[in-house]
Amino acid sequence: MTNYKELTMQLKALTEGIPYRTANLANAAALVYHAMEDLNWAGFYLMEDGQLVLGPFQGKTACIMIPVGKGVCGAAVETGRTQRVEDVHLFPGHIACDSASNSELVIPIRRGGEIVGVLDLDSPSLGRFTQEDQEGLEEFVAVLEQTVFTD
Ligand code: SME
Repeated sequence: MTNYKELTMQLKALTEGIPYRTANLANAAALVYHAMEDLNWAGFYLMEDGQLVLGPFQGKTACIMIPVGKGVCGAAVETGRTQRVEDVHLFPGHIACDSASNSELVIPIRRGGEIVGVLDLDSPSLGRFTQEDQEGLEEFVAVLEQTVFTD
């Protein structure tokens, strides 16, 4: 089980005072990807021109643009809520970037109340993500909101 307290402390240490968003998000993706077991993709989609656009990530190449409301990531933006999906094949409109993915966790990222992107994690195992993972990673995103998405 991932130690989320340690993970968020590492994220703070990595990002605090660093004014370069791409560098911070690249390190954040690498941090999560290597801290958690059983993932095949971890990274960011960021809102640009009214849609989600691929940001820094770890894993195989992924689809570049996702409209709001499409797939798991688009649903997180449309609803403003974390999407914890036990079996992506049962999720209407799921976008299969990597055929290895079977479960997914997507957390919206906000700046001043507005959604500016999402953290997206994929796993090859069904039901990989627990409520505890969700809460730990929502805390991780809260740190990002305070350190990386402040301007
Ligand atoms: N499966 C996602 C698309 C992004 S990839 O998982 C990296 C979705 O349905 O939104």
